[in-house]
Amino acid sequence: MRQSQFGVIGLGVMGRNIALNIADQGISLSTYNRAIGAEKELLRQFENLVEENHDISIYDDLPQFIASLERPRKTLIMIKAGSVVDDVLHTLIPLLDQGDIVIDGGNSHYKDTLRRQEQLKAQELHFIGSGISGGELGARRGPSIMPSGHLEAYQEVSAVLESIAAKDAQGQACCTYIGKGGSGHFVKMIHNGIEYAEMQLLAEVYDLLKPRLEHEAIIDFLKTCRDSQQGSYLLDITIDILAKKEDDGYLLDKILDRAGNKGTGSWGSKAAFDYGTANTMMASAVFCRYMSSYKDQRVQLSRYREESNYTIDIDLKSLQEAYAFARLINHHQGFDLIQTASEHYGWDINLSEVSRIWTNGCIIRSELMTTCIELFKTQNTMLDNGQIIQQLKQNLSSVKRILKHVIDLGISAPCFQTAYEYWVSMTRANLPANMIQAQRDYFGAHTYERTDQARGTFFHTAW
Ligand code: 6PG
Repeated sequence: MRQSQFGVIGLGVMGRNIALNIADQGISLSTYNRAIGAEKELLRQFENLVEENHDISIYDDLPQFIASLERPRKTLIMIKAGSVVDDVLHTLIPLLDQGDIVIDGGNSHYKDTLRRQEQLKAQELHFIGSGISGGELGARRGPSIMPSGHLEAYQEVSAVLESIAAKDAQGQACCTYIGKGGSGHFVKMIHNGIEYAEMQLLAEVYDLLKPRLEHEAIIDFLKTCRDSQQGSYLLDITIDILAKKEDDGYLLDKILDRAGNKGTGSWGSKAAFDYGTANTMMASAVFCRYMSSYKDQRVQLSRYREESNYTIDIDLKSLQEAYAFARLINHHQGFDLIQTASEHYGWDINLSEVSRIWTNGCIIRSELMTTCIELFKTQNTMLDNGQIIQQLKQNLSSVKRILKHVIDLGISAPCFQTAYEYWVSMTRANLPANMIQAQRDYFGAHTYERTDQARGTFFHTAW
């Protein structure tokens, strides 16, 4: 029986589009999905998507699917993150042989990936955890792919993954070996944290402008941002969203202001707490989604709102500069957390390569990301780069101007606010943390260092 070069398990939105993308490359493919309940429909839908030139076999029987794969078997699992992945591995592992490779392309938590790698290693199998970004269209036409795990195992599957990935401006695959362990899913998690804050910044720009400008004028403003090196996929889709009409109005005006989330943004914020990095923007963006979920309570409490009669024409140049400022802080915070975790785990992540594979295919692709490629070739933090510092300094007055408007208008702009506070705190040689140390020592004898003594020498006072 002809054996397929590659296998895909899970024919949901991402899985079926990745499978079609793989088949587009002329790779012989076996696909599998359970034929239980509503999942039968997935198989039928997929059959209708297979094209004449595709060499695809479709199975609803796992042992037959496994038997159809050439050795060492290379199987990509595209299913919802969580315990479902463990359930699939539980049935899959007994069917596999030494040296076979399993790739998890879902949004799994990096610690789960580390655990699964150890689990499969004990069976002389390889487990690669790979972030895949770009949504449905990215999966079909070219995502950004962030694989990690055993390098030799990655080298067995790199040709397939690189063939389906988006291409950067030089035609190189937006797929690179991120590092050992769960580093690939960690980097994807931070991608999503940066994404959350980028989305929140655009929502705050819209919030500032919508009472004063028609959608077309807001679109013009966003196009000005795009023409000033602020171009990004998220900016482009925001322009499309503002333009989308329904009947006699705009669709956006009919969408309920309660934001959902699948957890990756909060995971990234938890990682900041784990590794002691001040990822204030992604955490703020997560809390903004939680705040939006209090919809009914907010409606109730809105009767207490102090309406502002402050009317100003937002200075669009200041808003554009404030947006550029906040994006720099957001990207710095994200890469800083990746670097911190990389040092903690010894992953040796190449931030320039991460920036490069994020220039196309993924949700946070942008012109700024292209700048980061060169920057991270010589530095491992954006705040060591003179041009970045210069942009932050020259745009700071605009951020202050916008935040004053925000307060006078009686609205909130948490991500703009926290970007400002991050920069101000990072540029103050002295913060009031001496008071915190004194308080901790007063009630808990937790001791403190002194400014007139060597670092690392601790003192206690009987207050
Ligand atoms: C991507 C996206 C994707 C994300 C979903 C939902 O990189 O393609 O980030 O992975 O999970 O868009 O994200 P939330 O539900 O958490 O907003």
